Amino acid sequence: MDFFTLINKRQSDRKFSSKPIEEDKLMRCIEAARISPSACNAQPWTFVVVDDVSKKEKVAKCAVSLVMNKFVTQAPVIIAIVLEKPNLTSKIGSVVKDKEYPLIDIGIAANQFCLQASELDLGTCIIGWFDEKEVKAQLNIPDNKRVPLLIAVGYSEANQRTKIRKPLEKMYRRNSY
Ligand SMILES: Cc1cc2nc3c(=O)[nH]c(=O)nc-3n(C[C@H](O)[C@H](O)[C@H](O)COP(=O)(O)O)c2cc1C
Repeated sequence: MDFFTLINKRQSDRKFSSKPIEEDKLMRCIEAARISPSACNAQPWTFVVVDDVSKKEKVAKCAVSLVMNKFVTQAPVIIAIVLEKPNLTSKIGSVVKDKEYPLIDIGIAANQFCLQASELDLGTCIIGWFDEKEVKAQLNIPDNKRVPLLIAVGYSEANQRTKIRKPLEKMYRRNSY
């Protein structure tokens, strides 16, 4: 599969089968996240794999609300990405340049995970809407740490969708804004 086909294949899957994920596939996705770029190579993340059935159910419930994320309960694995303290250079850079490099880093690592998953025919959905406090309690994550994202992972039963995106002329300029 060429790279463009892969990034076009990746989509937010919201329907999963109960088929378990092979350990080697899961660890390959973690490895893809591990080798992500990050500001000053700070790697400000810990990926917590939640695959214990009862724990996973409890974490999934943290993402479900009246209208949001009911499908998360179907996913056999949930990843919680914990935001770790960046190194000093990244921290200084964030302050001096007024940019939240660690959050950008987390987004890139999450996407590398998802792209690798897609290449292995796994489905994913990045989840930003969840009860963070409760996720931390369920996973023994200290109160002073943040969990910016979860990723639901599993074999998808969703159909491949055409991407809905802004047209090129609305997201692209050249040489001047
Ligand atoms: C930071 C972030 C948070 C997201 N949170 C959720 C979420 O809580 N629930 C959900 O169903 N999708 C969530 N998504 C998926 C987006 O809705 C999805 O990426 C977007 O609609 C584009 O569709 P695609 O991923 O299928 O290409 C999130 C995506 C990102 C990047």
